[in-house]
Amino acid sequence: MRFLAALLALYLIRPSLCAIYNSFAELPQNLTFDFVIVGGGTAGNVVANRLTENSSFSVLVLEAGPSPEGLINHTVPFFNIFLRSENPWDWNYTAVSQVGFNGRALHYPRGRILGGCSSMNGMEYLRGSSEDYDRYADVTQDPGWSWNGIQPYIRKNEHWTPPTDHHNITGQFNPAVHGFHGINSVSLAGFPSAIQNQVILTTQELAEEFPFNLDSNSGYQLGVGWEQSTIKHGKRSSSYTSYLGPEFIGRPNLHVLLNAQVTRLSQTASDPPEFLTVEFAESRDAPRLQVTASKEVIVSAGSLETPKLLLNSGIGNASDLAALGLETLVDLPDVGKNLSVMIMLNLAYFVNSTDTFDDVIRNVTRRDELLLQWTETGGAGLLGNGFGSHHIYTRILSNSTIFENSPDPAAGPNTAHIQSGTSNGNISPPPEGHFMSMSVTLNTPTSRGSILLNTTDGFDQPLIDFGALSTDFDIFALKEGIRSAQRFLGTRAWDGYILDSLNNITTSSTDAELEAFIHANSAPDGHIVATASMSPKAATHGVVDPDLRVKGTGKLRVVDGSILPFVPSANTQFAVYIVAERAADLIKAAW
Ligand SMILES: Cc1cc2nc3c(=O)[nH]c(=O)nc-3n(C[C@H](O)[C@H](O)[C@H](O)COP(=O)(O)OP(=O)(O)OC[C@H]3O[C@@H](n4cnc5c(N)ncnc54)[C@H](O)[C@@H]3O)c2cc1C
Ligand SMILES: *[C@@H]1O[C@H](CO)[C@@H](O)[C@H](O)[C@H]1NC(C)=O
Ligand SMILES: *[C@@H]1O[C@H](CO)[C@@H](O)[C@H](O)[C@H]1NC(C)=O
Ligand SMILES: *[C@@H]1O[C@H](CO)[C@@H](O)[C@H](O)[C@H]1NC(C)=O
Ligand SMILES: *[C@@H]1O[C@H](CO)[C@@H](O)[C@H](O)[C@H]1NC(C)=O
Ligand SMILES: *[C@@H]1O[C@H](CO)[C@@H](O)[C@H](O)[C@H]1NC(C)=O
Ligand SMILES: *[C@@H]1O[C@H](CO)[C@@H](O)[C@H](O)[C@H]1NC(C)=O
Ligand SMILES: *[C@@H]1O[C@H](CO)[C@@H](O)[C@H](O)[C@H]1NC(C)=O
Ligand SMILES: *[C@@H]1O[C@H](CO)[C@@H](O)[C@H](O)[C@H]1NC(C)=O
Ligand SMILES: *[C@@H]1O[C@H](CO)[C@@H](O)[C@H](O)[C@H]1NC(C)=O
Ligand SMILES: *[C@@H]1O[C@H](CO)[C@@H](O)[C@H](O)[C@H]1NC(C)=O
Ligand SMILES: *[C@@H]1O[C@H](CO)[C@@H](O)[C@H](O)[C@H]1NC(C)=O
Ligand SMILES: *[C@@H]1O[C@H](CO)[C@@H](O)[C@H](O)[C@H]1NC(C)=O
Repeated sequence: MRFLAALLALYLIRPSLCAIYNSFAELPQNLTFDFVIVGGGTAGNVVANRLTENSSFSVLVLEAGPSPEGLINHTVPFFNIFLRSENPWDWNYTAVSQVGFNGRALHYPRGRILGGCSSMNGMEYLRGSSEDYDRYADVTQDPGWSWNGIQPYIRKNEHWTPPTDHHNITGQFNPAVHGFHGINSVSLAGFPSAIQNQVILTTQELAEEFPFNLDSNSGYQLGVGWEQSTIKHGKRSSSYTSYLGPEFIGRPNLHVLLNAQVTRLSQTASDPPEFLTVEFAESRDAPRLQVTASKEVIVSAGSLETPKLLLNSGIGNASDLAALGLETLVDLPDVGKNLSVMIMLNLAYFVNSTDTFDDVIRNVTRRDELLLQWTETGGAGLLGNGFGSHHIYTRILSNSTIFENSPDPAAGPNTAHIQSGTSNGNISPPPEGHFMSMSVTLNTPTSRGSILLNTTDGFDQPLIDFGALSTDFDIFALKEGIRSAQRFLGTRAWDGYILDSLNNITTSSTDAELEAFIHANSAPDGHIVATASMSPKAATHGVVDPDLRVKGTGKLRVVDGSILPFVPSANTQFAVYIVAERAADLIKAAW
């Protein structure tokens, strides 16, 4: 394995990291900053890149975590699943115990690393439906957030890249809806999945319920499409590898300070209140350091840490703040209050095959063989893929009884309530057996939760309450999602391949049994939003205006997933990249 380690070191380590500093002591003390960005995550690095295109703007990014440089579990796409448990690159959050989850208090993974969640996520690239963005435009009264409005930002973000195996991808995506000159790579899988033919056969056999969709990212998402991922030549493409890539990081006006956890913003002006001084520390017990921006502070700490930071800075619900002994500087009651997160289940089935990825997870010898192949071929083979093959977007029938009492929460009639993904294995396999799995995800959750302070120490975690499964609609929708997955897998295409369910449910399970299964097995996925929602400029509800300025303040914006008032009907990294691209333009226009 020493040979492998040496080979990996050559392949992974990037030569120059000039503007990335590991400690405050390394940061040249004579620098001044127009913009300070809190959080070098998915959104923060986009804003840093775009603002420093103008050489007259100087930018400092403060990131709590370290760099992913040389971290194999970051770079090898398939190994993303190893970054989800407690490890040094994770915030190590434990959520509040959830009634909807039978009292379970779950570990909730979140990247504490340069690139944020884009450095540890599943890399699935999904845009949702055009109606999702038209609804953002509607509820904010800003057409710039509409599907048409964001088209230029899709092109600026996306760099379509051929798959590593160079297979013919005609018929697997629609080039007309993609960007070929942007920054972040997107590609189809570079290694075939053993179940892909069964999936395509199912779209023919049950064409009405599961029609083939040439490209689920066209704005019309319903049906079954090939998985697209933020992967470049078999390696993860994150906001770190792309927006802070070698061609950008050498800019003399771009500075990134790692291991710098921001604990508070301190007020520098009133009427309107400004918060241009940022307080941070290198560890819980280290002295608090400060830096002051001359133009704006941009908070990009993500949907959990952004509301925590605003609250610790005296921006939030006055009675909640008073209860913790904090002075209210800006009375903004909705900070942290309207959390929305997608909820998912994983269904696994024993299969009549050993050609699945289960052994890569269970068998270290097998994993090392594939890692050697990935290294020697420059990213080819199974490890250069994510773990899914296709995405399936479906709607609950409009005549369903649930709609007698619950309004349809989807953004429109062509927006999916349920998203499923097919995988050639089980990401947490038991010691024996080979599997295929199908996820069932509620894309239109109606339950709302919150992020509240537990203590006023910026190094303590907030109280993360998903409010999970607190509405009839959410439970009903997941039940329908399970039934739909069972219909998908009940076709002739899977005859002789799928043998038995690993889970405790079957096609003849009753509604009550499915509900019990849902409460016992659901978990939130990483797509958490709305804790600092956008609302119309004059509105008193919400946290930021449509130009992402924090209401009632000056020179302070939030740019990250927390500003989305609803989850799009898709995983959220795409939406976050688009928010950040447009935000950078709005900020440039203001200065
Ligand atoms: C396990 C997992 C899998 C996922 N899979 C997918 C997927 O396959 N496809 C998809 O589209 N989406 C996926 N997502 C969701 C997606 O990655 C996120 O929605 C998105 O990356 C969030 O971007 P952000 O900029 O809002 O926050 P982040 O990317 O989390 O960035 C926040 C950054 O701020 C830093 N930070 C936080 N607080 C402070 C502080 N006080 N001081 C300094 N720095 C701070 C953090 O360390 C982090 O780097 C997944 C998420 C998770 C957790
Ligand atoms: C800061 O000081 C260094 C030398 O210590 C110098 O090279 C650099 O040009 C200075 N930068 C500014 C912005 O003054
Ligand atoms: C990557 O993940 C695997 C599986 O959990 C683990 O054995 C290995 O130590 C990890 N590598 C690093 C460098 O953390
Ligand atoms: C992570 O959190 C768990 C549960 O709160 C705790 O037991 C563990 O010590 C924490 N790990 C680290 C590295 O902080
Ligand atoms: C790819 O496949 C399409 C349709 O199947 C075919 O028309 C095209 O010629 C193929 N391209 C190449 C380069 O083989
Ligand atoms: C502030 O929060 C409290 C609960 O902690 C709630 O009762 C109150 O209504 C909130 N205030 C506003 C204006 O929303
Ligand atoms: C939460 O979001 C919903 C949907 O946009 C909205 O109706 C409600 O007013 C919001 N609540 C708060 C407290 O912002
Ligand atoms: C683990 O993988 C190695 C290499 O492919 C193989 O020889 C071995 O039989 C596997 N072990 C198990 C328990 O499957
Ligand atoms: C709803 O409509 C479908 C056809 O679209 C039909 O098969 C089903 O029986 C209807 N269900 C109810 C409850 O009316
Ligand atoms: C909240 O703070 C209390 C007291 O410091 C602590 O015991 C508790 O574990 C904290 N809760 C969470 C979820 O961190
Ligand atoms: C497994 O697949 C083989 C063909 O590959 C078939 O002959 C056999 O019947 C299948 N086993 C089951 C239990 O369906
Ligand atoms: C599965 O269901 C059976 C019968 O309903 C029950 O005895 C068993 O405990 C269940 N297993 C799990 C893991 O829930
Ligand atoms: C860069 O920013 C400066 C200061 O706001 C502005 O005057 C100039 O026009 C900008 N340059 C470009 C190329 O946008």
